[in-house]
Amino acid sequence: MVYYCKSEDMREFYSGNEKMSTLVNGSYMIIKILSRLGIKPGFGESSVNEVCYANSVSAKIFLAICNIADFNQYKPEMDSFSKSETADLVRYLRLSHNEFMNKDIPSIELCVSKITSSAGANPKHSKILQHFFEEYRDELESHFTYEDKTVFPYVTGILSGKREKGYSIEKFEENHSNIEAKLSDLKNILLKYLPAGYPHDVVYDLLSRLYLLEEEFENHARVEDFLLVPLVAHLENSIKSINHGS
Ligand SMILES: [Fe+2]
Ligand SMILES: [Fe+2]
Repeated sequence: MVYYCKSEDMREFYSGNEKMSTLVNGSYMIIKILSRLGIKPGFGESSVNEVCYANSVSAKIFLAICNIADFNQYKPEMDSFSKSETADLVRYLRLSHNEFMNKDIPSIELCVSKITSSAGANPKHSKILQHFFEEYRDELESHFTYEDKTVFPYVTGILSGKREKGYSIEKFEENHSNIEAKLSDLKNILLKYLPAGYPHDVVYDLLSRLYLLEEEFENHARVEDFLLVPLVAHLENSIKSINHGS
């Protein structure tokens, strides 16, 4: 069957029988997913299923994350995921937060500080850039902390059959904020308004990092909205049915 992907060209969804090396060659963003799931390189001619099995990772979760990131039309079959696979997904999302805040953001912060402290930097512009970045970093911190401390523990509770009163995954979905918008503003400050005279190599390095991170954030939000939320809603319904004795 043929489906439409994000860029509206026609490709089939990724499948477990494909070679892992082919998958990565077609979409390099998959490297991050492999890394976070602890899947080691050296794939040889092995298929996705074989590589996942050798690394004790659920191929279903791996493929769902890759497909959701790359295809608008992909809709995973909720019934086919086990509770342990949902737990794997939560672990993946937590690891992603950790990587964003402890690896990606510090490297961006370093670029910002190189720019604002460069010889000939205009103090007014430097202050605006620094302030904008710090505000954004704080916004990210509170977004991820809320998910790590409220949403994921709620999901863990659901996985063990306990539903916390007064909260639902729908509530999370309704308030799930967009973390990419400000990143786009930051790119525009650098692209359009930062005067010449700043170290251009650092400015371009920072821009490349921001574009990559923007793509990462979009994929991350899609995995939360289109995989985590429906999976947890499905589990909430099954708890409700059990409690109502049906
Ligand atoms: Fe998240
Ligand atoms: Fe989020």
